[in-house]
Amino acid sequence: MGAMAKLAHRVIVTHQLPEEWIADLHENCNVLVGPPTSEVAGLSAELQRHLPSADGLLTLLTVKVDAKLLNKAANLRVVSQMAVGVDNIDLNACTQRGIPVGHTPGVLTDATADLAMLLLLATARRLLETNRDAREGRWGTWQPERWLGADLAGKTLGIVGMGAIGQATARRAKAFGMNIVYTNRSSKPDAAREFDATRLRLDELLTVSDFVSLHTPLSAETRHLIDAAALAQMKPTAILINTARGPVVDTDALVAALRAGQIRAAGLDVTDPEPLPPNHALWSLDNCVIAPHIGSATENTRRKMAQLAVTNLLAGLRGERLPHCANPTVYEK
Ligand code: DGY
Repeated sequence: MGAMAKLAHRVIVTHQLPEEWIADLHENCNVLVGPPTSEVAGLSAELQRHLPSADGLLTLLTVKVDAKLLNKAANLRVVSQMAVGVDNIDLNACTQRGIPVGHTPGVLTDATADLAMLLLLATARRLLETNRDAREGRWGTWQPERWLGADLAGKTLGIVGMGAIGQATARRAKAFGMNIVYTNRSSKPDAAREFDATRLRLDELLTVSDFVSLHTPLSAETRHLIDAAALAQMKPTAILINTARGPVVDTDALVAALRAGQIRAAGLDVTDPEPLPPNHALWSLDNCVIAPHIGSATENTRRKMAQLAVTNLLAGLRGERLPHCANPTVYEK
């Protein structure tokens, strides 16, 4: 690490994180840490009072980093998010103020792809529904025609967003004998070669896929990408997997499609809203498997995410280019 006078920089960490995950920050900066996430989802009132003197902000995806917040933080020189997705951050507002935004790609790729496969298998083989039946005394005898699910081998998986996580999911699916098609803004020749995957338009992908897995960032273009019209294009036997961001799917349209049997099932690690209230219609559907945004929730992955967020933050405080910057045009000014 380059020379950085201890305590020279004031840094806000929006929520409590294990000390050892952010040890480098404590060593090098004057750190103000917020409350546990269980107490306050956004930026606490206490931390808001300290915004004017903050040089750096290490944030979670539950904090809205918008112009209103940035206007209170006149000294802010770097924002670092402990996540790869940055849809909670107004990147344009940061860029206009010359503030680079760090994020954490790479370190959570495998964990998130594992979770996509978990949801794919759990929905295909009706794991939660059959487990509940059995627990509640409805096991009965072994019945040849009961609790039948869907095969993976020989079926087509449509990957929406062939970035790192989409590719890691495709790699896993290939090992299960699946065929891969994908849609992406640009073509991905390497991925196409590795997975023997054809690039299709979204409407084509939805029509031919037995499973559709979403791996696209949330943006104005991808909000409600999977709406009623998109769901109507899917096969009635198809299964939708979302480990990206909840609002990429129109939740009301999904509930209607699952209820009507317009698609077979959905496996969701992300929902809109989040958290999903206990009385939400999605919970009542046997053909919907829901995880509470745990795609990156392994011990190693979360530690690496925090450490990478610290690395980005310290680089920004030193005036160096962030190793992983979500708004690289900030350096063109
Ligand atoms: C991310 O990094 O964007 C994930 O959603 C958090 O696991």
